[in-house]
Amino acid sequence: MSFHPQMPYGEGWHKSERFIPEAGADFAFTPEHRAQLEELCTHYPPERRKSAVISALYMVQAQQGHITGNAMRHVAEVIGCTPADVEDVVTYYVMFFTKPVGTYVLQVCRTLSCALNGAEKVTAELCKHLHVKPNETTADGMFTVMEFECLGACDRAPVIMVNNEHWAECQGPGDVATLVDGLRAKGLASLNGCHLVKERA
Ligand code: FES
Repeated sequence: MSFHPQMPYGEGWHKSERFIPEAGADFAFTPEHRAQLEELCTHYPPERRKSAVISALYMVQAQQGHITGNAMRHVAEVIGCTPADVEDVVTYYVMFFTKPVGTYVLQVCRTLSCALNGAEKVTAELCKHLHVKPNETTADGMFTVMEFECLGACDRAPVIMVNNEHWAECQGPGDVATLVDGLRAKGLASLNGCHLVKERA
């Protein structure tokens, strides 16, 4: 946290709800997720239950795809911290979404290796093929296009990460269409919190 002269640093200031977005629909963990979370919390000292925050947030995404204000408040209540603590984590890590995203989140790397190898063109082709702009979701809710920093596959640049599951190399103009059409042909994927693609049986 950086210092701000206007910030009321008195006791309890951090308990404010600060920038937590619209509450949205009510949220509560399913009994299965709640049990899973309680089990995870046993791995930490009782006073450190909030260490399970990332796992809890993945469970929220597994349930409803993105993280609302109500969900943050529920997570805070369950793991014993403030909603602002949860919001800090949600807004710090790029894998947490505060707006609905598509079934397939396509993350185009724009860092040096990928940039030098045509990442900008890949983003443009992807957006053109899907009729969206970066950070938008297609009308059918199937794809969200995002630009990300290094995805850790620099030797294969330029790359797109699909739902944190695999890297797709896009070396030529036709690769984007092949990737998108292949994913569309696979059909629906279920949410699992990391937006990993799990084929339906
Ligand atoms: S620079 Fe693109 S994956 Fe590292």
